[in-house]
Amino acid sequence: MTQPRKLFIKTYGCQMNVYDSERMAEALGVNGYVTTDRADDADMILLNTCHIREKAAEKVYSELGRLRPLKDLNPDLRIGIAGCVAQAEGEEILRRAPVVDLVVGPQTYHRLPEMEIAMRGGARPVDTDFPQEDKFEHLPKGPRARRGPTAFLTVQEGCDKFCAFCVVPYTRGTEVSRPAERLLREARDLVDRGVREITLLGQNVNGYHGAGTDGKAWTLARLVRALAEIPELWRIRYTTSHPNDMTDDLIEAHGDLDKLMPYLHLPVQSGSDAILKAMNRKHTAADYLRLLDRLRAVRPDLALSGDFIVGFPGETDQDFEDTLTLVRNVGYHSAFSFKYSARPGTPAAERPVLPDSVLDARLHTLQSLITEQQRAAQEAMVGREVSVLFEKPGRMPGQMVGKTEYLHAVHVTGQPGGSQAAPGTLQRVRITASSTNSLAGEAL
Ligand code: SAH
Ligand code: SF4
Ligand code: F3S
Repeated sequence: MTQPRKLFIKTYGCQMNVYDSERMAEALGVNGYVTTDRADDADMILLNTCHIREKAAEKVYSELGRLRPLKDLNPDLRIGIAGCVAQAEGEEILRRAPVVDLVVGPQTYHRLPEMEIAMRGGARPVDTDFPQEDKFEHLPKGPRARRGPTAFLTVQEGCDKFCAFCVVPYTRGTEVSRPAERLLREARDLVDRGVREITLLGQNVNGYHGAGTDGKAWTLARLVRALAEIPELWRIRYTTSHPNDMTDDLIEAHGDLDKLMPYLHLPVQSGSDAILKAMNRKHTAADYLRLLDRLRAVRPDLALSGDFIVGFPGETDQDFEDTLTLVRNVGYHSAFSFKYSARPGTPAAERPVLPDSVLDARLHTLQSLITEQQRAAQEAMVGREVSVLFEKPGRMPGQMVGKTEYLHAVHVTGQPGGSQAAPGTLQRVRITASSTNSLAGEAL
């Protein structure tokens, strides 16, 4: 038998790309590829790319520069670009980077097996269509291997919101929801393979509107409730949500579904109404705060996370102050903040940018505030009893690493009976200490 070819995938960007990378590995498995975690060992390297900010997109070209010499060592090596840079730049990538052999967008990677054959035949295939068919239905299935305790499940793709700064509606296309029953089937399959926590993914996941065979509309809340019926599935999360799609039924679900974890990533981007309007967010800062009040009324311990952009075109000192005020009002468990990056083809890219020194200063100020809140939130966990889903053994004997319901990483010692617990165990834990990025706890 010939040796299987080896595939190395490097994933950039959001969790959606993480999910897609797994599917691409399965698809290429049909052509005889097995995955490797070393680029210098691979016969095919796929970069699953992100186009969200200029820096993210440029990383791809610097990585290609680093990978170039590997082709001299292994004449069989082929390099492909997948993901959102592939979608945004298409053919242009082949011109700019002669080292690239294949370009595949996020909606056509089910065609990778044929593309790979064409590539081995000497072609440089490019496919960035938005096809009619559902790629997930056309994906060849890989072996049903045992899985770790947590998994992503893409339920919705694309975005119709068109925030003025964002490339996602162009790279991922219009909103499409996957049929509900198929998702339930896929979830049951994941659970059979050892998964205990599923994070439902979508660029605008709470806008989920899946078809069902009963003709009734499926909202995200209904999907979450149906998933909660799977006995061995213990935890459900979803990301990323838009404030305008936090419907009443979803808020209600946070109040009465124990399996829906009390953690929500709900980006607001800015605390200034003028900037929110210019960003085309279609909500005000007060709308967002009212929404959080409603969520906290049903789930007082809800841990919140968000995204912020500083230095959007036209952002004044006062606008930025309004963002700081909003952050102080909310009290985030964690939050991500980014310097505005003008993206080609987006409406905001037409507008004059602020000096980089202003962006740097604002980013620094906002990040300090967020770090302070994050530290306070972590410290407030000390002494509390939480549940931890173990993911893997820690460095110390008997220690396990896992996540709380609020998504903190915890190092847990003192398993009952002194034994080593298995990944996938759900354990009551008392938090004993907090450091910047993780907690320590003792099994109860
Ligand atoms: N679909 C998600 C995530 C979008 S991308 C959502 O709607 O929240 C993740 C984050 O990147 C965004 O929330 C935003 O804060 C940031 N982002 C998007 N475009 C950006 C740009 N042009 N410059 C800087 N940050 C950007
Ligand atoms: Fe981008 Fe806005 Fe859509 Fe999020 S909601 S993906 S920020 S356009
Ligand atoms: Fe990046 Fe595309 Fe995700 S641009 S953030 S990889 S949807």
